[in-house]
Amino acid sequence: MYIVGNWKMNTLPAESVDLAGSIIELTDGLAANILIAPPLTSTAAVLECCKNTEVKVGAQNVHWEDSGAYTGEVSARMLQQLGVQFVIVGHSERRQFFGETLQSAADRAHAAIKSNLQAIFCIGETEAERNQGKTNQILNDQLEPLANCLSSINSKNFMLAYEPVWAIGTGKSASIDDIHQAHDFIKTWFKDRKAFVPSVLYGGSVKPENFGEISALDNVDGALIGGASLKAESFSEIAKIGSGAS
Ligand code: PGA
Repeated sequence: MYIVGNWKMNTLPAESVDLAGSIIELTDGLAANILIAPPLTSTAAVLECCKNTEVKVGAQNVHWEDSGAYTGEVSARMLQQLGVQFVIVGHSERRQFFGETLQSAADRAHAAIKSNLQAIFCIGETEAERNQGKTNQILNDQLEPLANCLSSINSKNFMLAYEPVWAIGTGKSASIDDIHQAHDFIKTWFKDRKAFVPSVLYGGSVKPENFGEISALDNVDGALIGGASLKAESFSEIAKIGSGAS
């Protein structure tokens, strides 16, 4: 199981170090893979703190070019030199607020894959799309631009996160049936293309109270956690559940 914390635009460097320190302590020895994505300004400090531990540190965005006139962006090479091991790509907040398109999200994932950074590629439908019965179509539209890099993906450089937009930060997680069906659709999409079938994480209001049932699904390989990852206690509780230790 992969338990991934997306800290979004939260925590100053000193707070990040405190949070990472508590996470290291509380998740020590657990079977689950623990990954945290602090804001970029805290990355160096958190990397230092996670040195010689099992906790992996990632970023929340990556550009598709190695360098150039792209004010405000960061390249895969820059992240790699920093020591980052994974990067969240195509999060719905990037798609919703920062003009991320179907193609640019896939280009960012491709750049990460080429640099051996593990891309965690996020997809998911809005509430209106679900209500109109368009969930599979939307997931397909978001996956399709990956078609030209499918032959380069493997377990080390790629994971998927299914995150229904209406479940993010709302306290309202998707139903167990909806999660199972969406994960099945995603895994089948890769199988049908004879591609490597990636781990699929669920994201959207994951908390200790609901992760037992979610993690029991045979096609859920972990969680991408926002709000509950900002408290070491709730994050480590989820990690314990994901390790079968709670
Ligand atoms: P949430 O966020 O856990 O606060 O719903 C999940 C995410 O945005 O990855």
